[in-house]
Amino acid sequence: MVRPGMTRIALVIVAAVADNGVIGRAGALPWRLKSDLRHFRALTLGHPVVMGRKTFVSIGKPLPGRTTVVVTRDPAFGAPGVAAAPDLGTALAVARADALRRGADAVMLAGGGELYAEAMELADRLEITRVHTRPVGDAAFPGIDPTLWRETARRAGTQGPEDEVPFTVCTFERTIPPSASDRGAAASPRVETGVGFL
Ligand SMILES: NC(=O)c1ccc[n+]([C@@H]2O[C@H](COP(=O)([O-])OP(=O)(O)OC[C@H]3O[C@@H](n4cnc5c(N)ncnc54)[C@H](OP(=O)(O)O)[C@@H]3O)[C@@H](O)[C@H]2O)c1
Repeated sequence: MVRPGMTRIALVIVAAVADNGVIGRAGALPWRLKSDLRHFRALTLGHPVVMGRKTFVSIGKPLPGRTTVVVTRDPAFGAPGVAAAPDLGTALAVARADALRRGADAVMLAGGGELYAEAMELADRLEITRVHTRPVGDAAFPGIDPTLWRETARRAGTQGPEDEVPFTVCTFERTIPPSASDRGAAASPRVETGVGFL
């Protein structure tokens, strides 16, 4: 929650990543992991969520209780209940403005592979579910550079009856914050709030 006078809006990447880096196959998840879907919901509820158009199509509807911002180069794209943005910078600006309105402390970025690759250099935190399988796939998570990211939390997932494979839930924090100038370049245009993308 954002407290009065506190204006930092973090960018958090949320992903479920197989041991071989795969995150998706043929426009869908390569596994069934009900517990991770619940984890995703808990992390993102009450926050704006940015995603690529292909991920939105795979979900098929806006996420309840969250502003959904879809990044697409297709000017004709439209879907009820979602905001469309022509590039990542605009999407982040729209999401940040929404976070400030909601009093949320973070913008969540929910994939897929293209969006993760573009957003890694801007993110403050990674919420990664390590999925212990090595599926064939056509979408992958970028490498997590250990010189830039430090694992700050890890817990073994409790595999339930609707979880096909074991998993581990991890948090990574950036060791060196991305500089304001990097963010300004990548996340322009800035939102009209006088608050940089922090
Ligand atoms: N395991 C996980 O946690 C997880 C999470 C999310 C998704 N997934 C999986 O990942 C797969 C989808 O990932 P993906 O990499 O194929 O697609 P994606 O990142 O979801 O979406 C790619 C699309 O986003 C738009 N886009 C990307 N960069 C843009 C930019 N800079 N400016 C404007 N538009 C931009 C383009 O849409 P247009 O083509 O409309 O221009 C592009 O085709 C699916 O299999 C999905 O199930 C897995």
